[in-house]
Amino acid sequence: MLTPDHPGLARASDVLASGGLVAFPTETVYGLGGDARNDLAVARIFEAKGRPRFNPLIVHASDIETVKALVNWSETADRLAAAFWPGPLTLVLPLREKSGLSPLVTADLPTVAVRVPEHPVARALLSAFGGPVAAPSANPSGKISPTSAAHVHNGLNGRIAAILDGGACGVGVESTILGLWDTPILLRQGGLPQEALEAALGTPVATHQSDDPLTAPGQMTSHYAPGARMRLNATDLKPNEILLGFGTVDNAALNLSRAGDLTEAAANLFGHLHALDAKGADTIAVSPIPDHGLGRAINDRLARAAAPRD
Ligand code: TXA
Ligand code: MG
Repeated sequence: MLTPDHPGLARASDVLASGGLVAFPTETVYGLGGDARNDLAVARIFEAKGRPRFNPLIVHASDIETVKALVNWSETADRLAAAFWPGPLTLVLPLREKSGLSPLVTADLPTVAVRVPEHPVARALLSAFGGPVAAPSANPSGKISPTSAAHVHNGLNGRIAAILDGGACGVGVESTILGLWDTPILLRQGGLPQEALEAALGTPVATHQSDDPLTAPGQMTSHYAPGARMRLNATDLKPNEILLGFGTVDNAALNLSRAGDLTEAAANLFGHLHALDAKGADTIAVSPIPDHGLGRAINDRLARAAAPRD
């Protein structure tokens, strides 16, 4: 466990440079970072998470110039980056020839997902390292995403070299992913609300519906799965259930936001799921969440957490 001070960041950067894995905080969730140009480092990420190799990773960079060396940049990308980077938006763009990225990062797709995170510790680490860092969320594949260093430790201890402890993540749900094809497609609801993207683009964006592996290779139906079963849109409570509330509901074991604030609810979502799951409940019932703004990302994660598992 490393403190994100000068010596801690220097050590974390050395670990990355030698092909090791470092978990680090971003404004969305903790990421599990490895040198995106190093095949062995990237292979270790898949191994540590137990992640299927066909599911590509997001490449993180400290600045737009680093990103531009990896992708065929576009005018739309420029507009969105100016509006939202650093921040919780990932863009999928055509992979540039001679990008230097390990082919494992993109799972051999002709595109790559890129983002410039806003968290000061992520920025400090990426600048100290000075290169592209591949980083999926720092949880075992299919499990609840981590929003604290303790979550990462619980899920991946013994499988990674270091964790930079930067406290709790402010946004709490993963980045919004936008595919920049001829027409942009929203591939994953996330920390940047769809409404904000549409305002910047000046048009509605299509949302991804099908299971086309080329556009959304990793959008597994079952994901974020707690050990407990989940029942969504619950307006009552059954005997074998504990309630994850939203708004002024009675009997909630934990409440995402008593004030009904979606920003607060997103920040609490994964932490509350981790905490309720640790109680060993049979079923977690969840209050209805309005489906706008960050509520869309919350409902997306809840639906995957509730989906039937293999
Ligand atoms: O907020 C976030 O995005 C966090 C933090 C750590 O940055 N990262 C994250 O990574 O959520 P991960 O691996 O859990 O999710 C990445 C998603 C996957 O669903 C993956 O399939 C998709 O991005 N993805 C990556 N490359 C892609 C590509 N070329 N085309 C389409 N989807 C892609
Ligand atoms: Mg993930």
